[in-house]
Amino acid sequence: MQSAMLKNLLARKPLEALVREMEGEHRLRRVLGPVTLTSLGIGAIIGTGIFVLTGIAAHDKAGPSLMLSFVVAGLACVFAALCYAEFASMVPVAGSAYTYAYATLGEFMAWIIGWDLVLEYAVVSATVAHGWSHYFQNFLGVFGVRLPAAISRPPFDFDPETGAFFATGACADLTAIIIALLITAILVKGIRESAGFNAVMVVIKLVVVLFVVAVGAFFINPENWKPFAPFGFTGISFFGRTVLGLSGPGGAPLGMLAGAAIIFFSYIGFDSVSTHSEEAKNPRRDVPIGIIVSLLICTVLYVAVSAVLTGMVRYDRIDIDAPVADAFAQIGLTWAQVIISIGAIAGMTSVLLVMMLSQPRVFLAMARDGLLPPSFFGAVHPRFKTPWKSTMLTGVFVAILAAFLPLRVLAELTNIGTLLAFVIVCAAVLVMRRTDPAFPRPFRAPLGSFTPVMGILMCLMLMFSLPAENWLRLLVWLLLGVCIYFLYGRKRSVMAVMRAGGDKTAAGSGKGGRAG
Ligand code: ALA
Repeated sequence: MQSAMLKNLLARKPLEALVREMEGEHRLRRVLGPVTLTSLGIGAIIGTGIFVLTGIAAHDKAGPSLMLSFVVAGLACVFAALCYAEFASMVPVAGSAYTYAYATLGEFMAWIIGWDLVLEYAVVSATVAHGWSHYFQNFLGVFGVRLPAAISRPPFDFDPETGAFFATGACADLTAIIIALLITAILVKGIRESAGFNAVMVVIKLVVVLFVVAVGAFFINPENWKPFAPFGFTGISFFGRTVLGLSGPGGAPLGMLAGAAIIFFSYIGFDSVSTHSEEAKNPRRDVPIGIIVSLLICTVLYVAVSAVLTGMVRYDRIDIDAPVADAFAQIGLTWAQVIISIGAIAGMTSVLLVMMLSQPRVFLAMARDGLLPPSFFGAVHPRFKTPWKSTMLTGVFVAILAAFLPLRVLAELTNIGTLLAFVIVCAAVLVMRRTDPAFPRPFRAPLGSFTPVMGILMCLMLMFSLPAENWLRLLVWLLLGVCIYFLYGRKRSVMAVMRAGGDKTAAGSGKGGRAG
């Protein structure tokens, strides 16, 4: 009895089944080349991280050493990205990390990662909606329009000095609610992230980022870079106990690595390139190129922007809501604020579209496997042909989170969830190489086990550099997921149902899925 349950938890979805599923559905046309894939990657990457979180990270955690924080976080992402690329080239199907885990680590881990991806996609969207709201309000401010304080921000915020929440006096962030619901409406109607729309957004974003670097460079005062690392170069804690570097008043680690753990957020989105492998002309070559080149371009731009920002304004005077636009205001270039706000708003809109589009897709993959109710999460709108119910649920969830929770809490929660997903994908690559060494791998992450092992270690390091309460939040979230799995998915999953049927007819011959 117990071993039957264990078999179900470890049941792996056969790779061949994944490939068959892909052939059964509409084959997507192979139209994307390396340039378009790179541009899609940049479209999903540049947003709130660089335009908003650089403020908190420089101000509270890293000072000018934020430049190095971007290098460290970028490196962790490159290792993880190579692992994503290996999987994407093997099984280019929807579901991303969830599907990869189902094929390697078994159903239970697949569920856990699918549940965890909600933190990546839905909570990321709430964070981006926040950033959008900050920049939109900043933009209105240039024209002298100010929203009433009561509807301009969440009702409470987290004070890292005291490690406690405090009331802001506001009721909710109304602008964040409006943008989240607006994007939901667009996604329900079915405007998908077309390569053309994305390309326009990418151009606007890149022009504005280059503008920031080129114009800001003239206003750098090298004195602002001293001290370079006011909080040190480390910042690692182990469940609340700082093991390396300084810790802040709330016990949160401080330093360059702690900054990297926050601005890791800026790189989230590159994994979306892996979901396009089915549409790539030459996935073996172009998907890895798209992932790596978009990451490298963003790393270089991020390092440049953080150098300019911390050079223009002393780190402790950097604004934490709209730092880049505010830096230009501080040096008297109010007109530049308008340009930067437009770029930031355009950039964040495209990130929101991609992320809020991805969440229902993962739900759809899970509903098809029977782990979520197909009648709701698998429902496709008869006219719009979109997963409208789960898109609306995602939209309402995002709007509520963005309206009421503070930015730094949302961003940190996203980071720990995404880092966990990356750890699992890297581990899954190692497992898959042992269990299915002969399965064709059009792309193989280089340097043998070094790449996945480094991906795991660096992502774990960044997880530990986040304030300890995030582990608690992650644990609560995962426990909730485990309860749902045992109450719903375990018995209803397609694999479990097939196995039960197989057991009845073939007396446990093991048809319908392989035990890992
Ligand atoms: N990387 C994305 C952003 O910074 C999520 O907005």
